Amino acid sequence: MKIVVLNGSPKGNKLSFTMQYIYYAQKMFPHVEFNLINIGQKLNNMKIKEESFQEILKEMASADGILWCFPVYVLLVPAQLKKFIELLFENNAGEVLKGKFSGVLSTSMNFYDNTAFDYVHAIIEDLNMKYTGFFSNKSFDFDKIERRKTFYTFIKNILFAIENQLPTPRRFNPINIRKNFEFAPNEVLDEHKLDSNGKKIIIITENYSEESNLGKMIRKFKSSFKNEIDVYSIDNIDMKGGCISCLSCGYDNQCFYKDGHTDFVRKKLRNNDIIVYALALKDRYFSSRFKQFVDRAFFNGHTPITEGVQFCYMLSGSLSQVENLRQIIIAHSELGGGNLVDIITDEFGESEEINDLIYNMAKKALEFSKYGYVQTPTFMTVGGYKIFRDMIYGLPGVLFQADYRFYKKRKMFNFPKNKLSYRIMRLIFKSKKARAIFKKNMFKIFVRPYDKFFKNLDVEQEITEFVI
Ligand SMILES: Cc1cc2nc3c(=O)[nH]c(=O)nc-3n(C[C@H](O)[C@H](O)[C@H](O)COP(=O)(O)O)c2cc1C
Repeated sequence: MKIVVLNGSPKGNKLSFTMQYIYYAQKMFPHVEFNLINIGQKLNNMKIKEESFQEILKEMASADGILWCFPVYVLLVPAQLKKFIELLFENNAGEVLKGKFSGVLSTSMNFYDNTAFDYVHAIIEDLNMKYTGFFSNKSFDFDKIERRKTFYTFIKNILFAIENQLPTPRRFNPINIRKNFEFAPNEVLDEHKLDSNGKKIIIITENYSEESNLGKMIRKFKSSFKNEIDVYSIDNIDMKGGCISCLSCGYDNQCFYKDGHTDFVRKKLRNNDIIVYALALKDRYFSSRFKQFVDRAFFNGHTPITEGVQFCYMLSGSLSQVENLRQIIIAHSELGGGNLVDIITDEFGESEEINDLIYNMAKKALEFSKYGYVQTPTFMTVGGYKIFRDMIYGLPGVLFQADYRFYKKRKMFNFPKNKLSYRIMRLIFKSKKARAIFKKNMFKIFVRPYDKFFKNLDVEQEITEFVI
């Protein structure tokens, strides 16, 4: 039996955490041929020769199963693997890969590994292949026997499915693209044009045609303001390659690459009040070029670089059919310390409605910016922050010293304490009587500080404190 292993790690085969599982599989299942293909390195400059790509495709077509292996990079797969996936679609690989069994294996810090897995799962189905499950592990957890046991069973299941040509349930619908809708932007009357009042606003996009829906959405957004809005295309940023995970940046946020990316992030992306992303969906994310831009921003480590920024999204594509991408967008805004104002797409509504939505988004972003409004974080961000905190406090904090200094300065190593008073209370609570007395008054005790607060609240004074 032949399994083709697509290795998305830019570290190559030998040095990749993820690939250690493949070496393990080779030992545990000697009768299986695991054929390793190092996509991460082959596509490091986001290009591959046509013959090399065709050779890989041929190899995949001749295999009994495919294992998609990758490190999670910024909530998804590395840009290099994303590019490879784009090439598969461009070459109609779904025709030759139809019915092939595919499993997914990744290592990470378990930070948004779920969105990366959902993405690859959907891609497998879009390529007409059969999805057989995923295995996710923390980078350093290979030594845990229970995890190796899980991995062993995971591989065994894939082999069993292949041997018996088992059916697999489908989860995702193919994406349906709204056809023939041309957005017609209207002009904003001079008296309705918005004054940015010194707020810094930029639009980040990719090369787009002025006549595409995206181009017209950008035009509409710009025309909502009295003043000029800068538009930057990531195609014009000089990026010599994808992130290679050298971690040179860990100590002092200096990227190994000397190209235009770092400068762009430092000089253009930072210090804005409003950032508008105007992008087109490509498969179930944005383009691999955009992903490369995002991955490379890893030189900032695990610290927020867009604190207080209002994020607006204008997208061309079927976002409502890619809930996973919406989750990623929300996470990007929250993790960067910013606020997601709105996501507007060209998939619903007529031009009039989209015009109103864009104008209203611009207005809302200005208003939110005035008050420094940032929506409260939800489970993913609160939980995700704790993963970062624990990680930076531990061994990775030795490498990521810039993060360590940042977290320390901000007092972000805020672990819960097992206070002596709690321990005493736990002892007291062993008594049924104590529990009964407390239960009777519990909620009254909890809200007591609020009673005091409302008694002393001076509404006018409170409001003056809100304005920034
Ligand atoms: C650019 C970059 C982005 C990363 N993003 C994530 C992430 O979003 N979530 C996560 O859990 N780990 C993230 N990691 C950590 C890697 O997923 C992790 O170290 C992985 O085990 C590396 O696997 P490899 O050795 O096979 O390349 C990131 C690492 C790099 C270099």
